[in-house]
Amino acid sequence: MRKVQITETVLRDANQSLMATRLPYSDFKDILSEMDKAGYYSVECWGGATFDSCLRYLGEDPWERLRNIRQNMPNTRLQMLLRGQNLLGYKHYHDDVVEKFVELSIKNGIDVIRIFDALNDFRNIRTAYEAARKYATPNTVVSGCISYTQSPIHTVEKYVEMCKDLKDMGFDTICLKDMAGTMSPYEAEHLIKGIKEEVGDMPIVLHTHCTTGMAYMTITKAIESGVDVVDTATSCFSNGTSQAATETLFYALQQYGIDSGLNEDVINKVNDFFKPVKQKYVDNGTINPKSMATDSQALVYKVPGGMLSNMIANLKDMNAMDKFDEALLEIPSVRKDLGYPPLVTPLSQMVGNQAVVNVLMGERYKQISKEVQNYFKGEYGIAPGPVSKELQDKILGEGNEPIDCRIEDSKRTGKDFEDAKAALGDLCETEEDMMSYICFPDQARKFLEDRKAKRENVAKYTIEEA
Ligand code: CO
Repeated sequence: MRKVQITETVLRDANQSLMATRLPYSDFKDILSEMDKAGYYSVECWGGATFDSCLRYLGEDPWERLRNIRQNMPNTRLQMLLRGQNLLGYKHYHDDVVEKFVELSIKNGIDVIRIFDALNDFRNIRTAYEAARKYATPNTVVSGCISYTQSPIHTVEKYVEMCKDLKDMGFDTICLKDMAGTMSPYEAEHLIKGIKEEVGDMPIVLHTHCTTGMAYMTITKAIESGVDVVDTATSCFSNGTSQAATETLFYALQQYGIDSGLNEDVINKVNDFFKPVKQKYVDNGTINPKSMATDSQALVYKVPGGMLSNMIANLKDMNAMDKFDEALLEIPSVRKDLGYPPLVTPLSQMVGNQAVVNVLMGERYKQISKEVQNYFKGEYGIAPGPVSKELQDKILGEGNEPIDCRIEDSKRTGKDFEDAKAALGDLCETEEDMMSYICFPDQARKFLEDRKAKRENVAKYTIEEA
């Protein structure tokens, strides 16, 4: 019997897409031992924005969250999303930092590490890949991930070529990451058949979003074309900017005669558990009804939902909502000038902000953001396609070329560990503390200070009691 397995995303991507990753551990801890019996391929529960959100908004230690999930789900593969050389932050880190981060992720409980680079410049995922291999346990799965986008240069042949590179690097599985939910059923069919032909029995994972309303059709075609794993979210946390619904896909797969490995009772219990959790965040406004709706605009502009809401927020701040349509129209041209980067973090912010600036200034590139300048210098990696020569000359000076090397090759290691320990002093108790600080210094320091104060209060209280 053919198998198509399911990765449940409620704890990470559904949480991130629908409610800006504000779900605290206390809201889902009671369902973990039940989820452990569901028979998922994996549970995506860490990485992406969860790390930042734990420290910044939830007052939680992200490492402790991971260890707690691990303890309550001993039988399930735990999965994380890692932005290659950016880890879970927004800049390129030194290789020794990347290696240590991956080592600690595995040590604290991660099994499946899905690694991507915004530009699909695979030099930026190599260090993370090698670290995952170095510290692998028998359960470790290292998944090479392609940021999917559409443009004149992103042909099926180009994607097949990328998959071949990932296979040659040694990844266990390949994931197609369609963050904007713009992959059509037709494209899914051609892509997956093309990839399967090239990489043989290497498992293919499809990650898409319901943003544009196409996900169920696309997943159906992907299943018919040989996909092995599909990401879904428990139904009350599905649809809109999130993933397709787990139970719905389970039902459809049954009729196909395909084994998903899922236990129907358990996945229904999981959904029942999360219903009131979701309602609480709808009622308090954390979940915006807009994020639960279908928005086909993304099909026209190839813009992920999160990027649109960011742009709207920026324009509102500047009292310039009347420029929204113009800014939206400007995105494709900025993207073309940058050589068609996929619109995923941090490129989505970069392209969106530059489009807004171009429109507000009434002149293209009168003002060029620091990030876009660094992009042209080659600091993010190689642009997917040819960039605007005119803009390159304007930024680099005429005739100058971007640096043709991975930025870390000139500074593979730094003094990050020493610096972090020195900066934190006795606040730093573990390597995990140190790593939190390297990734998010201000937020980590605040968290560690609060932790210390809380302990001192408890100690004081206990002495008084005694
Ligand atoms: Co996603």
